[in-house]
Amino acid sequence: MPPKILVLNGPNLNALGRREPAVYGSVTLADIESGCQKAARDAGYALDFRQSNSEGELVGWIQEAMENTAAVIINAAAYSHTSVAIHDALRLLDIPVVEVHLSNIYQREAFRHHSHVSAVAQGVICGFGAHGYVLAIEAVARLHNTKAS
Ligand code: DQA
Repeated sequence: MPPKILVLNGPNLNALGRREPAVYGSVTLADIESGCQKAARDAGYALDFRQSNSEGELVGWIQEAMENTAAVIINAAAYSHTSVAIHDALRLLDIPVVEVHLSNIYQREAFRHHSHVSAVAQGVICGFGAHGYVLAIEAVARLHNTKAS
């Protein structure tokens, strides 16, 4: 069984495709998932891709990643800016964590400029749309390869 990357998506990302197309484009979460599945397969990983509108469910899934998970890629969406619970859960992990945002949060409203996830992430990718998820998978593979060699 290949090592597993867990990709977590927060609130309202299930509405991509219909949600603020001027900001997020026309890509759907299903499109993003299929791009991630391909990138993960190419890099030799299994992929577990999930979305929740609930902060508690996301915390539970992060805790699950303490077992049998090689890395977490997370777009916590609005919870990035508000959730100490998600920050604390991510602190439990000793695997790479990569934060992703579709939009460039620093070009947007001031309340989006701070993320509670960033302090506990190995790196942050924002502003590249759906391609950011693929970049995150490539970053995870690079981190694992560097650690192994
Ligand atoms: C987002 C940016 C957040 O500020 C926002 O609340 C989202 C999506 C992004 O992917 O650009 O829901 O995380």
